[in-house]
Amino acid sequence: DTIKPTIILVFGATGDLAKRKLFPAFYNLYLDGRMPENFEIIALGRKKSSDALYRSHVSENLTEFSRNKITSKKEFEQFASHISYLQNDIDKEESYLLMKQKLDAIDSAFGARANRLFYLSIAPSFIETISNNIKKLDLAANPDQDRIIIEKPFGYDKSSAELLNKLLARTFEEEQIYRIDHYLGKETVQNILAFRFGNSMFEPLWNRNFIDSVQITVAEEVGVEDRGGFYEGAGALRDMIQNHLMQILTMVAMEAPTSLQADEVRNRKADVLKAIRRITPEEVNHYTVRGQYDKASVNGKTIPGYLQEKGVDAKSTTETFVAMKFYLDNWRWQGVPFYVRTGKRMKEKQSSIVIQFKPVPHSTFSFGKEGMMPNRLIINIQPAMDIRLQFMTKKQGLSLSLKPAEMVFDYFSCSTQATEAYETLLLDALQGDPTLFMRSDQVEEAWDVVTSIQDAWENDKFSSLHKYEAGSWGPEAANELLARQGHSWASNT
Ligand code: BG6
Repeated sequence: DTIKPTIILVFGATGDLAKRKLFPAFYNLYLDGRMPENFEIIALGRKKSSDALYRSHVSENLTEFSRNKITSKKEFEQFASHISYLQNDIDKEESYLLMKQKLDAIDSAFGARANRLFYLSIAPSFIETISNNIKKLDLAANPDQDRIIIEKPFGYDKSSAELLNKLLARTFEEEQIYRIDHYLGKETVQNILAFRFGNSMFEPLWNRNFIDSVQITVAEEVGVEDRGGFYEGAGALRDMIQNHLMQILTMVAMEAPTSLQADEVRNRKADVLKAIRRITPEEVNHYTVRGQYDKASVNGKTIPGYLQEKGVDAKSTTETFVAMKFYLDNWRWQGVPFYVRTGKRMKEKQSSIVIQFKPVPHSTFSFGKEGMMPNRLIINIQPAMDIRLQFMTKKQGLSLSLKPAEMVFDYFSCSTQATEAYETLLLDALQGDPTLFMRSDQVEEAWDVVTSIQDAWENDKFSSLHKYEAGSWGPEAANELLARQGHSWASNT
C-alpha cells in the first residue's frame, strides 16, 4: 500500500533511542522501499546543530547500530536528504511557531497537507507541555492524518497513567495515540498469534484441561548500565512486568479474535488483563519475589552490584528482579499458574515462553536416567528465535524405556536476518494501524495489576527484598515460588 506523504517529527532526536533504534529503523524501512514516497523527518533537539551535522551523526549511528550498514554513500545521502534538524526548546512557544512554519513549508513543497507523525522519545514529564502546544497551534488537528507515538514508561502507576490519558485526550482522539511497547513488534512475539490461530492442532489443547502451567521469562545479562538515575524510580516491576511481560501474557492467554481489526484484537487482550486476579497487600509475599543483584565475581571479573551502580542510592530498595505467579479468573485458565519473571544481570540474555502440559494420567513405561519429562512447548523470543516441542520417545535398543526428544522450528533456517521491532511498529504507525499499540484501557488495566504490588512493597521496604548474585538466575526464593507446586523454571540449566 502506498503511504500518504508524511512528516515525522522526532522529539528527543539526540537521545539514545533515536540513535540506537529509531533512525536505524527509518533507514532499514527506506532500504526496503517501505517509507512513504514523500517523507520528511524533522529531528528536534535542545542542542544547537545543523542539518549537515545531524546527518553525519545519523551516518555514524547507522554504522554502529543498524542491521543493514551503509554500503553506498549515494544511497545514504538520498536517505539523509529527507532529514533536517530543528533546535527546539520544549517549554518555549516560539519553538512550536518555528515548527509550524517548517511544517507549512513542507506541505507547500509537497503540494498537499501531509500526514504528521509526532514521535515523543522524551521523559514523560514533557508530554503535557508538548501536547498542549500542539493543540494551541493546531498542529495535529486532523485525526485521519495526524498521530502521536508515546514511548514507555506510560505513567508511574495507575493514577498517573489515567491522568496522562486524560491530558492527551484534550489534544488527540484515542485513535491518534500510539502507545508503544516494542516487545509487540518483535517477530517472535507476533508469531504467537500466528502459531495459535493459524493452526488447528494446538488450540484444542490450549486451556486448563491440558495445560499444567505457563512460564514467561525475560532475562537480561546486562545491568542497569548508565540508566541508574531513571531505574531508581522505576524498578523491574514498572520497567518490564507492567508492559512487556504482561503483553506477552495477553498474547498467550487471549481468546481468538474474530478478525485482525485493531479494536477486536485489543478487546481480546484487554479481556485477559481484566481476568488477572489482583494480589492483595497481605498476599504479596506469597505471590511475588523481588530481588536486587549483588556484586559477584564471574570468570575472574568482578561485576558491581546494583548498589554500586552510577546514579543509584547506596541504600536503594529498588528491585532489579521480579518473579511472580498470576492466575486468570476465566473459564479457559482457571487454576493454571502463570509464572512470570524478569531480571537484570541474570545468567544470560534469554526470553522465552514455556507451556507445560499435564503429566500422563498413568505411567506405563520405565524412564531412563533423565526421568519423565513433561511435554513442553517452548517459544524462544530472543536471542534464540525458535519453537520447540518436547515429548518422550522410545530409547533405541532392546528394552522399552523412554527418553525426551524435541522437534524444532528455527526462524534462522528460513531467513538470516530478522527485522527489528521498531521497523514493524514504525511502519504500522505510518500506515495508521494501531493493532500492536496499547489502548488507554489496556495500559490502565496493566497498571491496576502492578500498582497494588508496588504499594505493598513500598510499605514493607526491606523485609522481602532478596539479594542475588550478579550472573545467576535470581534469588533462591524464585525457585521456591515454583517448587511449592512441584514446578521448576525450565531454563535454569
Ligand atoms: C526496555 C527497558 O523497555 O526494554 C529496559 O526499559 C530493557 O530496561 C529493555 O533493557 C529490553 O529490551 P530488549 O528488546 O533488549 O529485550
